[in-house]
Amino acid sequence: MALLEVKNLSAFYGMAQSLHDVSFDVNEGEIVGIIGANGAGKSTLLDSIMGLTKTTGSILLDNEELTVANTAKIVSFGVGYAPERANLFPYMSVEDNLLVGAYTAREAIEQNLELVNTLFPVLKERRNQETSTQSGGERQMVSVGRALMTNPKVLLIDEPTIGLAPKVCNDIADALRKLNKETGLTILITEQNVNFALTLAEKLHVLETGHIRMSGTAEALAKDPKLNEAYFGH
Ligand SMILES: Nc1ncnc2c1ncn2[C@@H]1O[C@H](COP(=O)(O)OP(=O)(O)O)[C@@H](O)[C@H]1O
Ligand SMILES: [Mg+2]
Repeated sequence: MALLEVKNLSAFYGMAQSLHDVSFDVNEGEIVGIIGANGAGKSTLLDSIMGLTKTTGSILLDNEELTVANTAKIVSFGVGYAPERANLFPYMSVEDNLLVGAYTAREAIEQNLELVNTLFPVLKERRNQETSTQSGGERQMVSVGRALMTNPKVLLIDEPTIGLAPKVCNDIADALRKLNKETGLTILITEQNVNFALTLAEKLHVLETGHIRMSGTAEALAKDPKLNEAYFGH
């Protein structure tokens, strides 16, 4: 059964339309990827699910209509968001940044903190460090961790590998795979890094100027000549 259903979603910035009639489902326990170049509409899509843009269409989480709810409500319904620029509080500690995410899920603080620390042991070691002094990879981990502190049913992650070294990308992929396997958490992730997305997600959609142009399993898309031509030039 679909946990998240996006139906005929269009998004607008003033007169400009950035998403056109986007429809896809995310089933419980899946990792679904949205791939697309700069400006394709990846951040707009995730912002729209969070109620941060002007939209038409429908977004259902567990049959609950999200488009009529405000962002705080959407978080409390169970959507966790790690946005593109992590937007951490730079002069607060790692742990305090994580606790900011726990605002709507206070009863589960201990358990969620334990989960984040197990997933990203470096954050436990550095829990008292200001995030301004962390590496880009560690800040990305705090951002994902903060979203986990909201106790989500589905985790949205916007381009986690942007600006990170390949080794750090692999660490993040491993942690997300482990999270999905061990807790069954449903994940919707966007990427321009097609290889990263193909190794992580089982189903993917290719977004181009606000339209979904191609959809399929990682296996099928990896072999698709159109995708290879568009992203790898062969
Ligand atoms: N705040 C905004 N105001 C106006 N246009 C925007 C805004 N944010 C994004 N856009 C436009 O929407 C389109 C999709 O952008 P975005 O969702 O950021 O793409 P991506 O995340 O895939 O790089 C682009 O044409 C971009 O210029
Ligand atoms: Mg973006």
